[in-house]
Amino acid sequence: MPELAFDCVIRGGRVATAVDDFVADVAIKDGVIAAIGRNLGQGGVELDAKDRLVLPGGVDAHAHVEQLSAAGIVNSDTFESATVSAAHGGTTTVICFAAQHRGMNLQTVVGDYLALAKKGAVIDYTFHMIIADPTEVTLKEHVPALVLQGHSTLKVFMTYDLLNVGDEKLLDILLAARHTKALVCVHAENHGMVSWMGKRLVEKGYTAPKYHTISHPRGCEAEAFNRLIAFAELIDQPIMIFHVSTAEGVAAIRQARGRGLKVFAETCPQYLFMTAKDLDKPGVEGAKWMCSPPPRTEADQEAIWQGLALGDLQVISSDHAPYAFDATGKLMAGDHPTFKQIANGLPGIEARLPLLFDAMVSKGRLGLHKFVEVTATAPAKIYNLHPRKGSIAVGADADIAIWDAKRQVMLADNLMHDGARYTPYAGRTVTGWPSTVLRRGEVIVREGELTAKPGSGTWLPRAGGAPAAPLGRLTADVDPGCNFGAKLI
Ligand code: URP
Ligand code: ZN
Ligand code: ZN
Repeated sequence: MPELAFDCVIRGGRVATAVDDFVADVAIKDGVIAAIGRNLGQGGVELDAKDRLVLPGGVDAHAHVEQLSAAGIVNSDTFESATVSAAHGGTTTVICFAAQHRGMNLQTVVGDYLALAKKGAVIDYTFHMIIADPTEVTLKEHVPALVLQGHSTLKVFMTYDLLNVGDEKLLDILLAARHTKALVCVHAENHGMVSWMGKRLVEKGYTAPKYHTISHPRGCEAEAFNRLIAFAELIDQPIMIFHVSTAEGVAAIRQARGRGLKVFAETCPQYLFMTAKDLDKPGVEGAKWMCSPPPRTEADQEAIWQGLALGDLQVISSDHAPYAFDATGKLMAGDHPTFKQIANGLPGIEARLPLLFDAMVSKGRLGLHKFVEVTATAPAKIYNLHPRKGSIAVGADADIAIWDAKRQVMLADNLMHDGARYTPYAGRTVTGWPSTVLRRGEVIVREGELTAKPGSGTWLPRAGGAPAAPLGRLTADVDPGCNFGAKLI
């Protein structure tokens, strides 16, 4: 038998990246893309992609997987179920969280999450390290050691009773990140406003899930963004602002970027396709749509789309945070909880790409290249996974989703593969679905059927890279040349 030229050839598809769009064969050898061209040699596996779109596998840069919450429950996924779900939705790389809680040793936490992922994941993964207990040993010893090992993003909360770190510790974390060349991702909402509104609403008997939306008053977002941006400017530390939900939030980011600051920003499908009205359901049903920040208004959706179009926001992640609608999850405090007792978060790791493909490609909003950019290429670049991940190019990992652009699918609870067992998008019909998905050249979903083994995903160590590098632009207060010689950062 003559030796085959390639392990796999995806034949005759319409290949599209964030910039290119052409018909070609894509040949794979040893897990990476070996050639792109016409009439390429034979592959051990031949995949016919005629009349199909051949796109980079999605990079989901924000997903809570098998994660212990501050309230002490693990969300409804294992690494296996979450990544199987991701794969079915065309995602081949996920950035999830190693979540430190107060009193926990960060190194132990990271080791534990790595072990869970190694056992179950079917797609490639890497971690943001949540810092909820920024002690001296965490910031001075554990963070530098872990960043060196390849965990180069820190995640911080400015709200949630048991997670928020407060202003001074946030400054300490930004400084620790600067010293170790890590990027800092932030859940930025004003904690006082959220806490005060929540208490008042519950005291007055407004306890239904719909009141969750106003308990996070819209002003709490831009206030926290502006405070965070001021801190980041003082320390000269790049930041990523997670899950932007309001027009004022978009404006704050635009203004900061306009001043030349290194501020990246993310939004999620729930802020493009849902509004606060989705939570207005009988009884506690609205809990299924409860996430933080909450979905807002149609006008906010428009502002976010515009922010994406202009590049003020670069990334659309899922913020997958699944809790089943039962006593193990959303209803852990019983059948009649106040909204304050309901776990925040939505499943979305599988629906992210189909929802966005439908809106951006099938319905034409911002188009195919922008779809690839915000769902794969930009997150790969910002989190320093590019050029290995996020595009289709010779030498890149063969992470590819073959899309049937015409297939219509009505989203339904039983269609999804994650552990929440419901989707907040049930009943919506989308046009376009990933039929076959490859991860490092291995077919992991073939025409909708899972073919991957648990544990076949691999950990992706990452340095911070250029996105995490400071500007080198000190404000006068911390510049020894202007502050009477004080060396502060
Ligand atoms: O409601 C959400 N998004 N839950 C997950 C944790 C977070 O705030 O990102
Ligand atoms: Zn968050
Ligand atoms: Zn999140």
